[in-house]
Amino acid sequence: MTDWTANSNEALNLSLVRAEADKLLLGGEESYEDFHPTFTYPIYGEDEKLYGYKDLMIDMRFASGSLVHYLSVKYSEKLGSSSTVDDVEGILKEFIPEDYYTDEQTFLTRVEEDAASFAPMGKLIHSYTRPSPSSKSKGKSVIRNEQLNPDSRDVVTYEVYHVGSTWSTPGFREYHRRMQLFILLYIEAGSYINEEEEPWEFVVLYEKRKRTGPTGGVSYHFIGYSSLYNFYCFPEKVRMRLSQFVILPPYQRQGHGSELYTSIYNYVVASPNIAELTVEDPAEAFEDLRDRNDLKLLLGHARFMEEGFGPGIVSHGGGRVEKKKTKARATPMGAPSGPVKRKGKMGPPADKPWVEGWRKDLKIAGRQFYRLVEMLILLHLD
Ligand code: ACO
Repeated sequence: MTDWTANSNEALNLSLVRAEADKLLLGGEESYEDFHPTFTYPIYGEDEKLYGYKDLMIDMRFASGSLVHYLSVKYSEKLGSSSTVDDVEGILKEFIPEDYYTDEQTFLTRVEEDAASFAPMGKLIHSYTRPSPSSKSKGKSVIRNEQLNPDSRDVVTYEVYHVGSTWSTPGFREYHRRMQLFILLYIEAGSYINEEEEPWEFVVLYEKRKRTGPTGGVSYHFIGYSSLYNFYCFPEKVRMRLSQFVILPPYQRQGHGSELYTSIYNYVVASPNIAELTVEDPAEAFEDLRDRNDLKLLLGHARFMEEGFGPGIVSHGGGRVEKKKTKARATPMGAPSGPVKRKGKMGPPADKPWVEGWRKDLKIAGRQFYRLVEMLILLHLD
């Protein structure tokens, strides 16, 4: 009986397919093949089981940049026509655009074409470089970040693009329809957004590679993305809510999530019309990522740290940090700060107007900022 039942998370096999010329760069060490979803219950039902097949394999591939889909359902045996046999492809196709490929060769031809022609939509807002994972595996991991030469083959560039006027950006609606499947597959209780709503914005992260072969040029490979929603914020600003955030498994735990989050935060700070960045119902792993990056930001902010946690701050009984004297707030984040001039005793972080003033300047949501300040107080007391 169990032979005819498959776990849908294991049966669904995902891969990001690169053009042949782009694969050559990888030195056989980087694999974007054979990863699995964390969840399939939004598609195949709560128990994540598929019935009626032996050795079921749902081969779902994405062109690494353009994300066009290929889908093929494979099995060694299928139970005879029975209403209890799951229509594996029929169910999945409800969740992806209908123009997916089913012929492998045609799909691979499209991958080759897209590798040369696909370019990210939107505006470049951040880029960073890292030593190529394949150069590390060849024993070249001694390259330090500051020594990276973006023209070297041992260096990979990553780019973050922001798509603001989302639905009127040519091609983006179709692109989003191809990438949104990852939300169902990796975010618990994730769901598709409503395309009728105007205020959606997106940031998308890509790996950018120089192409080998006679054509040269560059190719872009999708790593992850985040969806953002604009709320009106009285009287004349918007509040940016980070709604969905995903980094694909082959790229996780390499700092890409932190880069994407930081690029969103910096975008918010640099946008005069955005009052603050909030996060919708963050998963635990995302909370960790956010805490780590927010703390890094605050610890690296000389004026904030000096004012709130400098030597003028004293700790009173019961471990609470209290204020001795209030001081006017410093310049906002991002403004040139210059040397810190201390006038008498500094205001402590527990002082509400002080905390609120900095919170607004740093554009961090209330609950999060208060948590961060508490963490810093604990660090300070240690
Ligand atoms: N080598 C090894 N580990 C590293 C490296 C590195 N070079 N760089 C960072 N790390 C570690 C970090 O220290 C961190 O460790 P920790 O978990 O012990 O704190 C961990 O890797 C993750 O940090 P990042 O690499 O910056 O983050 P990542 O790119 O893995 O993305 C994320 C994290 C977004 C949670 C990703 O795992 C993911 O997409 N998960 C599935 C979807 C999901 O849960 N999304 C959030 C939903 S909530 C929402 O959408 C609002």
